[in-house]
Amino acid sequence: MSIFDIEHSPENNFVKNNPKYLKSMFGTAELQPFWIADMDFKVASAITESQTDIVERGIYAYEDITPMVTKAISDWNFRRHNLKLNPEYFIQVNGVLTAIAILLRTLSEEGDGVMIQTPVYHQFFSVIKGANRKIIDNPLKFENSRYTFDFEQMENQLKSESTKIILLCNPHNPVGRVWHQKELETLIKLANQYQVTIVSDEVHSEIVYSNSKFNSILSFSNTENHIAILGSPAKTFGMQSNANGYIYVQNKELFEKNYNLVTSMYLHHGGALTAYGTLAAYTKGEVWVNELVMYLEETVNWIDNFLINDLPQITMIKPEGTYQVWLDFSKLKISEDELKELMFKNAKLGLAPGYWFGDQYNLFMRMNIASPKQKIEDAFKTLKQVIDNL
Ligand SMILES: Cc1ncc(COP(=O)(O)O)c(C=O)c1O
Repeated sequence: MSIFDIEHSPENNFVKNNPKYLKSMFGTAELQPFWIADMDFKVASAITESQTDIVERGIYAYEDITPMVTKAISDWNFRRHNLKLNPEYFIQVNGVLTAIAILLRTLSEEGDGVMIQTPVYHQFFSVIKGANRKIIDNPLKFENSRYTFDFEQMENQLKSESTKIILLCNPHNPVGRVWHQKELETLIKLANQYQVTIVSDEVHSEIVYSNSKFNSILSFSNTENHIAILGSPAKTFGMQSNANGYIYVQNKELFEKNYNLVTSMYLHHGGALTAYGTLAAYTKGEVWVNELVMYLEETVNWIDNFLINDLPQITMIKPEGTYQVWLDFSKLKISEDELKELMFKNAKLGLAPGYWFGDQYNLFMRMNIASPKQKIEDAFKTLKQVIDNL
């Protein structure tokens, strides 16, 4: 039995279980949550041990171990991605969305365009709107059973719209693409040609399955003016409520601009538990992450087989990375409301509705699979029963 097979009791204070949230999103609190991108698993024991040491120390004097943390993240990236990073180019903030909110403000003016590729992580819409920037949607194309960039449309939009930023999601939530080197080369070429900055959200970079390879935006030679958000320990180590975000800026002028904004608002101050947990994660959490990725891939393969053999009315767009799976229910030939009724009321499964990620995706849903395999299997078996009874 794997450590990831263990079921831990749900807590109402977890956002995913909170009856108030569930009721407002799904119309009922009587369902199993598979909607938010966090984990049911306990973190690696090295993280708990290091945080326990701090709790036992019992002294929370102002403390700063950021240089140790950024060195640990740099070493991790060198080991795993052969990426040479300078720990001095990191800017720490308190989350990935905070990082994006800051970059939108330093790289563009109110009213400027920010390009996204829908279907995409729904908070991208709010963070762009919250900064009074304009969303430029360059939807992904679906070809040969996989999503790809629409470079032709992208170029036309870059020519005609006042786009300042391309907010890239790599790996892409919710469709699970891990962008190939060639795709990223074309993207960088266009961004450089039209003088647009790529802000690359790489928070899902460590959850990548067999036959796929993660390429950070920083691994390309002509990207000095582009910016990576190297994510945070959140998605990789299941530290969602115990994480920071790390912006990596190579261009000196841009670094100073961002650093000044962050420090002027004191957004770089983090808590000691988060800092020590992050340090332990990046120095001692590698075996746990490797096991996690294998476990998740087994789950993805189980779902794939089950849908093909037992529930062909639902199609999974098989992910290359991330623990989100993007499910297409259109073969059921039911309306959006009927799909909601079927999922939330009948099957009692709280998946994230597809329209969160893009207008035309009302017959899709995103499922978070960072749960014990048994729980995922039971969910699909329940779904089959409900669909068989339609
Ligand atoms: C692509 C992406 N970026 C950012 C976040 C949120 O990161 P944080 O909680 O650090 O703000 C998520 C969470 O699901 C995500 O999927």
